[in-house]
Amino acid sequence: MNKKDMYILGIESSCDETSCSIVKNGEEEIATVVLSQIDIHKNFGGVVPEIASRHHVKNITMVIEECLEKANMTLDDIDAIAVTEGPGLIGSLLVGMEAAKTLSFVTGKPLIPVHHIAGHIYANNLVKRLEFPLLCLVVSGGHTEFIYMDKDYSFKKLGGTLDDAVGECYDKVARVIDVPYPGGPMIDRLAKEGEPRYPLPIPLNDDTYNFSFSGLKSAVINLAHNLEQRKEEINKEDLAASFQNVVLDVILKKTRKAIREYPVQNLIIAGGVAANSSLREALQNLAEEEQIHLTVPEMKYCTDNAAMIAAAAYYANKRGDKASLIINSKSTMELK
Ligand code: KG4
Ligand code: ZN
Repeated sequence: MNKKDMYILGIESSCDETSCSIVKNGEEEIATVVLSQIDIHKNFGGVVPEIASRHHVKNITMVIEECLEKANMTLDDIDAIAVTEGPGLIGSLLVGMEAAKTLSFVTGKPLIPVHHIAGHIYANNLVKRLEFPLLCLVVSGGHTEFIYMDKDYSFKKLGGTLDDAVGECYDKVARVIDVPYPGGPMIDRLAKEGEPRYPLPIPLNDDTYNFSFSGLKSAVINLAHNLEQRKEEINKEDLAASFQNVVLDVILKKTRKAIREYPVQNLIIAGGVAANSSLREALQNLAEEEQIHLTVPEMKYCTDNAAMIAAAAYYANKRGDKASLIINSKSTMELK
């Protein structure tokens, strides 16, 4: 091991994934364990916070031990402990935070708090070192926003959703057509087989970098109810295609505008919806047309994981972010 190398052990537990990862120098993943609770929450049609926290408590130690084992390392080989500080489900976040604090306390190693979205952004750094200035399109279950970065760990928000996040909207639409949680991946698949023949309103089609998806969500719900009342069957594929079409339309339009307005050569995407195959394809085409470079996270690191947290922590640490043992998790938090 090179003495200058920094090995960070990251912990993520903000929603329904319990995850631990060890990343070298913010770029090289050594080992990652992600334990998903999707199968448990599926039965309820969404994440039940109290159940999520309980499962994090049950699993966190095992996940950390398994990660160290996978990396063939001990805590002595780790230089710092990183953890998602927020935003997320408070009970879930607290489990990861307490585990990280305990590890930091017993080892005497620094504790680095990481914003969950900074983590999603730095999932791209595991694919290719970020190049600045860049534009990041954040599309997750809780966030939809444009972030401009002119250097590491410097985040300028250009605009974001005024109501629902795009992932949340995918999950709600999925519910309307009886697709189990999380609906995003299935809508992605169904949309490919359908025709966008249902008329839906284009969400907040203005000149700002803001989004609004709640009207679209209501329009899908109303459409489904109307069809039901008329005893007409909903064509799931066509509804998925119609919904996805307007979502991609507005995202692409605003991304193109941001690329033209800001002096960027690099576009990255972050968050669970970055796994969407049609979005990836459409953004690749857009990047080619605008002659800029697109980086996308690996599919497995689009949704929540600790590798992205350990990667981001390397740069958070360089910026001087450090927490004492009195730090608390935050359910809401600005990306700064
Ligand atoms: O980033 P993430 O794991 O959680 C938050 O930080 O919020 O994102 C989860 C979201 C869910 O809403 C899920 O439906 C969506 O990402 N998602 C997708 C796809 N895969 C996951 N949405 C559209 N297409 C996908 N392939
Ligand atoms: Zn996330």
